[in-house]
Amino acid sequence: APHARSLASLRGGSVGMASSAVVDAPVERFRKDYALPAQLVGAVELKFEIFETETLVHAALHVEPASPPRREPMVLDGEELALRSIEMDGAPLVEGSDFTLSAAGLTLLSPPLTPFTLRTVVAIKPQENTQLSGLYKSSGNFVTQCEAEGFRRITYFQDRPDIMATYKVRIEADKQAYPLLLSNGNEVGKGDLPSGRHFAEFVDPFRKPSYLFACVAGKLDGIEDKYTTASGRDVRLAIWSEPENIDQLGWAMQSLKDAMRWDEQTYGLEYDLDVYHIVAVNDFNMGAMENKGLNVFNTACVLAKPSTATDDDYERVQGVVAHEYFHNWSGNRVTCRDWFQLTLKEGLTVFRDQHFSSDMTSEAVKRIEDARIMRSAQFAQDAGPMAHPIRPESYIAMDNFYTVTVYNKGAEVIRMYRTLLGAQGFRKGMDLYFARHDGQAVTCDDFRAAMADANGRDLTQFERWYLQAGTPTVKARGEYDAEGGVYSLTLSQTTPPTPGQPHKLPFHIPVVTGLLARDGTTLVDSTVLELTEEEQTFKFEGITSPPVVSLLRGFSAPVKVDLPRSDEELAFLAANDADPFNRWDASQRLATRVLLEMAAGCDATQTDALEKEVPSSLIDAFRATLCAPGLDNSLKAYSLSLPDFGTLSQEMDPIEPDSLLAALKATRKAIARQLHSELAAAYDALAPPAGAAFTLEPEAVGRRRLRNVCLSYLAKLGDEDRALAQFRSATCMTESIAAVRALVESPGAARDEVLSTFYERAKANKEALVINKWLAVQAAADTPDALETVKSLMAHESFDANNPNTLRSVVNTFAGANPAGFHKADGSGYRFISEQVIDIDKRNPQVAARLCNAFNTWRRYSGARQDMMKGELMRIKESPGLSKDTFEIASRSLA
Ligand code: ARG
Ligand code: ZN
Repeated sequence: APHARSLASLRGGSVGMASSAVVDAPVERFRKDYALPAQLVGAVELKFEIFETETLVHAALHVEPASPPRREPMVLDGEELALRSIEMDGAPLVEGSDFTLSAAGLTLLSPPLTPFTLRTVVAIKPQENTQLSGLYKSSGNFVTQCEAEGFRRITYFQDRPDIMATYKVRIEADKQAYPLLLSNGNEVGKGDLPSGRHFAEFVDPFRKPSYLFACVAGKLDGIEDKYTTASGRDVRLAIWSEPENIDQLGWAMQSLKDAMRWDEQTYGLEYDLDVYHIVAVNDFNMGAMENKGLNVFNTACVLAKPSTATDDDYERVQGVVAHEYFHNWSGNRVTCRDWFQLTLKEGLTVFRDQHFSSDMTSEAVKRIEDARIMRSAQFAQDAGPMAHPIRPESYIAMDNFYTVTVYNKGAEVIRMYRTLLGAQGFRKGMDLYFARHDGQAVTCDDFRAAMADANGRDLTQFERWYLQAGTPTVKARGEYDAEGGVYSLTLSQTTPPTPGQPHKLPFHIPVVTGLLARDGTTLVDSTVLELTEEEQTFKFEGITSPPVVSLLRGFSAPVKVDLPRSDEELAFLAANDADPFNRWDASQRLATRVLLEMAAGCDATQTDALEKEVPSSLIDAFRATLCAPGLDNSLKAYSLSLPDFGTLSQEMDPIEPDSLLAALKATRKAIARQLHSELAAAYDALAPPAGAAFTLEPEAVGRRRLRNVCLSYLAKLGDEDRALAQFRSATCMTESIAAVRALVESPGAARDEVLSTFYERAKANKEALVINKWLAVQAAADTPDALETVKSLMAHESFDANNPNTLRSVVNTFAGANPAGFHKADGSGYRFISEQVIDIDKRNPQVAARLCNAFNTWRRYSGARQDMMKGELMRIKESPGLSKDTFEIASRSLA
């Protein structure tokens, strides 16, 4: 039952926070229940009085009745707010007769049917906000995170994305402690106040939902630049962070400018305000946030310099900076009607950032990286208890649905529009979408309608990608009629049941297909086959020799392929497919088959015997890839990397982690041993030319990537010299961290040296993100005492249990990237993680809930493991005072 608190008690001396002991029964919300409220806030004025013990938030909400007006109470969300005063059009309101209060908000019982202004003053305690949602303190700076439902932790408001308002904001704070004051939009005033305080005022001319609100008060240094838009307007760009990070902001700035240019060139979309700020903070639940004109970022997605950031980090910074920038159109100018539509902005914006990164780097490499995430994480989600359509039907805690399904599968769905409509057709659809909906809060159906209308296409069936969860399997069977010169390809589709969806209807699937002759030449170029029925046959005519089919080129749909292939055929495709993505894919399929066959019923303790079982077909194919002339080094690197535990385990039923890990280990060793001379030669040949300057050219990245893959294999045979030498002479983080990783599982002097040198250097330079790498490498290490290592890392001086990045580096890494430790047969890994979930949940429900997902695969394990994982989930679910976030994950997992 809602917990009502009397206004009188809140007026007293100390600010009464909604006690965390007050647990409301979690409420499930449904997409079908959407309704616009009867009163709409159209303009907001906010004043923040920031003090050390509390912050006062003064709000004036200018409210308009819906037309026609309806006589309904007005619901304002509010969480952990202490109401200090409330008045309507100048008259104080009385609790009980005019309004009621609960732990979830404030209800005006009979608001007028004409426009009115509601004024409230609330007190909040950002310095005690460990959830990092709403206004909170990070390393002494005040920052906000409002998406999805953080604004209600700042003031009473209709905290939902269809309430779009203009914002006028004034911030007041101590001038010395918080010299930098920022909010969305343009600064329109600033000045000094008595007692060493100062203020700044901002106006954001664009109407926006509350989740895009942001403000910052802190002591930060920054770099500035300028961007001139295509139409000739100057935009001031500023990136802010703590002073010690100032030399790590340049890459983010470059990425921002590249993204601005790219969006003009690719979609004709320009930036619309005079200023664009990025603020980087240490404590952040996610990657970054696209607040209008004032992005707030996790430092992990901003900071980069060669000595601290790997090539992958650089790529992430570039991608996330672009992602948040692209949201200015796909998300901010056109936003979501309700949170069920999240993929409308996230799927689209991930697609846009992927396309941008692809244009900035290498199309094939980027595609492989994105497909790897889909296969290891998204397909796994689809196959488990958290499976949901990219447009979910219900949620308890919206933050639980910022998922790889909504984001990455959502991006794949956008990509399919483009594959079906062509680049130009897609652009027409985008133009129509923005022309129709600029300034509105809309739905995924609106986006689909724009794509359909701009192209005169019927995309009705395509809605099933938004309605149905699960990964379809496309089965393919080919038949060649030599006499007629016809190749017939029969495609059929099935999608397994997911929670609440026992039966699936056929999807509209673009299957990009090519045909190769046995000599490797092209018979049929990439063609889009549209699979819309349960089964269809496609005929290729004029095929003069028996073809090899290359299916789902470029991962043209988020599906699995069922097509029996011989090892020879896979090796042939790995060497010859004209589609580089499918060359990689063939190598992965070959490796997957080998690994699963080895794992099936193997004796996990007999690793030497297992090593001898690795078939020469795999070794030969890997050798051919490693030595292929003219093949991009990044593509080689990914082709020579074995699929990970998460990807492989999806194909094993039940999952036997000991066997699977043993097969992986044995295969790595067999590759290392049998290709030793090739790997060593490649490693040495790939050394950076002496004195060469650090560059991020794809060529240089590819060199480092492949060289590090070679190093990791060589280390499997105990070759410590190369790793140690690489560490000592490293000129960038990509080189040093790979050397640490190569050594971390081999106890001894070399390991001790690199670990302590690495740590001491990072500590001396105050590089928190580098220390996190040091923590993560150790937490992922497959060693007999992995759990003890993790516990000692948590006791280390560098560990901060309130910082999500540090927590994730240790705890989530152990749960997600150390399968041997997490799945240890005695259950100690499971117990440890459930204890962490319960403990973290008290401080930060979002981070705890995410960690709790580690148990989602419990039904896929057999016997004792299944029982133990289930037991931990039940312990979590029943622990007193559990947040709705973690409750939702645990209970969906057990359902
Ligand atoms: N909109 C942000 C992004 O993808 C993510 C913010 C999510 N935050 C959260 N607490 N759920 O760019
Ligand atoms: Zn986003």
